[in-house]
Amino acid sequence: MSDLSLAAATPDCADGGVWLTCIECGEQLAPFDEPTYRCPDCGGLLEARYEQYPTFEEFSGRGVWRYDAALPFDHGVSLPEGDTPLHEVPRLEADVGVRSLRVKHEGMNPTGSFKDRGMTVGVRVAEELGVSRLACASTGNTSAALAAYGGRADLETLVLLPAGKVAAGKVAQAALHGARILEVDGNFDACLDIVSELADRGEAYLLNSLNPFRLEGQKTIGFEILEAFRDDYGRVPDRIVLPVGNAGNTAALYKAFRELVQAGALAEDEVPMLTGVQAAGAAPMVEAIEEGYADTERWEDVETRATAIRIGNPVNAPKALPGIRATGGTAVAVADDEITDAQRALAEEGVGVEPASAASVAGLRKLREEGVVDESEDVVCLTTGHLLKDPDAAAAAGAEPEPVANDTEAILDHLSD
Ligand code: F0G
Repeated sequence: MSDLSLAAATPDCADGGVWLTCIECGEQLAPFDEPTYRCPDCGGLLEARYEQYPTFEEFSGRGVWRYDAALPFDHGVSLPEGDTPLHEVPRLEADVGVRSLRVKHEGMNPTGSFKDRGMTVGVRVAEELGVSRLACASTGNTSAALAAYGGRADLETLVLLPAGKVAAGKVAQAALHGARILEVDGNFDACLDIVSELADRGEAYLLNSLNPFRLEGQKTIGFEILEAFRDDYGRVPDRIVLPVGNAGNTAALYKAFRELVQAGALAEDEVPMLTGVQAAGAAPMVEAIEEGYADTERWEDVETRATAIRIGNPVNAPKALPGIRATGGTAVAVADDEITDAQRALAEEGVGVEPASAASVAGLRKLREEGVVDESEDVVCLTTGHLLKDPDAAAAAGAEPEPVANDTEAILDHLSD
C-alpha cells in the first residue's frame, strides 16, 4: 500500500530542502546526484518531498513559476507556461445541471497542452543533472512539449511514438522543434517500456510522468484552479474531473492538495473530489476503481479515438488511485461518441479541445445522469489539449465545408436553399 504522507524530518540526503522518497518502501534519495526514476531498492514510484510546504500567501508572480515556493527551483527554461483560463461555460453548465461548471483549458499552454508545466520543471532538473539528451515515449503531447523545451534548452531530444496513432498536430510540433522521432510498431505502453530501458542504460534522461519532477510542474494546475475558483466564488470546487491516461495529472493534483493540507492552507474536507475519466477502450483505472484493486492490471489491447489517452498501463496508478479514493472521487469510462459529443458542446461555447480533453466533460455528463454527481456541486473540468492538436478529429466532428461557385448570386442562392 502506497504511503503518501508528507510529514517527515529532513533527511541528510536532502539538497536545498528537497529529496526523493519511495512511496512503497520509504527509501529516501538525494534528488540531483544522478537520474533516478524508480526506487533502486524496491522499484516503487518516487515522489519529491520538501522541508517546507508553502501556503497561498507565499505564491507571487504568474504561471508555473508563481509557485516556485512549492517547486525544487525558483526558475527554469520557460516559454512561459501555466496561467491558463478557467472558462465559464454557461450553456454547458445549465445542460449538465450543476451549481457551477468551469473549464480549466490547459490547451492554452505554449505547445497546446498541460505537458509544458511538467517540462519547464523537468528540463530545469535535467540541466541540474548535466544530461545531454532528453527522451520520452508519447501519445503525442509529451513529445511536442519535450521537443520545444529541449530545443529551448539546447539539448538533444528523442521521442518514441506509437506508429500511426499520434494526431497530426503533435507529430508536426515534435518534428519542427527538432526532436528525433522514432515511430515504434507498438502502442504507447510498449514505447514507454523501451524508453525506460534506454534511460536505465544511461542513454537519455527520461521525461515521462514516471519522472517525479514532471509531476511537480503539473501540480501547479491544482494551485491555479483553487486560487482562480476562490477569487470568483469565495470557495473551492467540490470536484475536479479530468481525463486519465498515464494518471500523471491525477497524481499531481492529489499531491498539490496534500501539500496544501500539510501546510495548513486547505482543510482536509475542502479537498476536491478527484474524478478520472477514461475512454471505454482504454480504461484500466476505471476497472481498478470498480474492482477495488491496489494497482491497475495492464490492458494489452487498447483503442480509442482519443489517441492521447490510448494507454493500457498507467504507470502512476499507485499514486493516483489513492488520490481518487481518499478524496471521495471516482472513475468512469465513456464511449468515443460521447467524447465527440462533448467536444462539440465545448466548441459551441468557443472552447476548442482535442478529443481526450473532452472526455472530462463526457464523464461529468455521465456521472450527473447516473446521480453520482449532485446538482449542488461546484465542478471544474480539465481540458488537457488544444483542438488544433488533432485537426482530423476536429474536422470529422465539425460541419462539412460546402463547395460553391465563384459567384455572389450563386452563393446567395445556395444560402437560401
Ligand atoms: N489529455 C491529453 C491531451 C494528454 O495528452 C494526456 C497524456 C492525458 C490527457 C492523460 O494525462 O497521462 O497525466 O493521465 N498524454 C501523454 C503523452 C501520455 O504522451 O502526451 P495523464
